[in-house]
Amino acid sequence: MDSASLLDFSLVPVTDDDRDLLYRLALDPVARLWSFDPTAPTRKQHEAWFAAWMARPDCARWIVRLGEQRVGLIWAERAHQHAAHVSINLASSVRGNGLGPVALRAVVPLIRQEWDAVVLAYILPGNTASMRCFERAGFQCSPLAVTYKGREARLYAA
Ligand SMILES: CC(C)(COP(=O)(O)OP(=O)(O)OC[C@H]1O[C@@H](n2cnc3c(N)ncnc32)[C@H](O)[C@@H]1OP(=O)(O)O)[C@@H](O)C(=O)NCCC(=O)NCCS
Repeated sequence: MDSASLLDFSLVPVTDDDRDLLYRLALDPVARLWSFDPTAPTRKQHEAWFAAWMARPDCARWIVRLGEQRVGLIWAERAHQHAAHVSINLASSVRGNGLGPVALRAVVPLIRQEWDAVVLAYILPGNTASMRCFERAGFQCSPLAVTYKGREARLYAA
């Protein structure tokens, strides 16, 4: 992947056909390492999670595409009336090329438009690539020490 490929970037809605793609993304070892829940889901757990998640009105979901290729997921959930959490997981084959910041920059206005919300991301302290990615997407790191899902976290906001 070269930087010109980033011009082929687009966001499309998640559909039921993305169930398997999301399972593959969820099983990725790096994604698991930096998830607040490091346990890999079984296929059955994933199917149940996916069905419930697709039905949630307080979530917004996008597939990240490069050309026709579906290469990642960004999703947001409304945490409070004016706050939403965003998460991103790109396929290992496309990481490290600047796609994450481009995709997040595109998503933030969509989330704000949907919920009139400040957009927050919780990141595990060792996840340097993610912290750099959110910084390059215009997020700022809070100086406050925070705990998220029982673990120390960095809180980024845009
Ligand atoms: C985090 C993620 C979304 C970043 O997207 P990306 O397209 O790979 O981001 P970039 O290519 O812009 O790389 C981000 C920065 O991290 C650096 N980086 C990339 N891989 C790295 C690594 N393994 N270790 C340290 N830094 C790394 C890049 O050089 C870049 O830094 P720079 O801006 O100083 O050049 C993507 O890597 C990913 O999906 N990772 C797995 C899941 C994950 O961690 N999600 C976030 C949970 S909060």
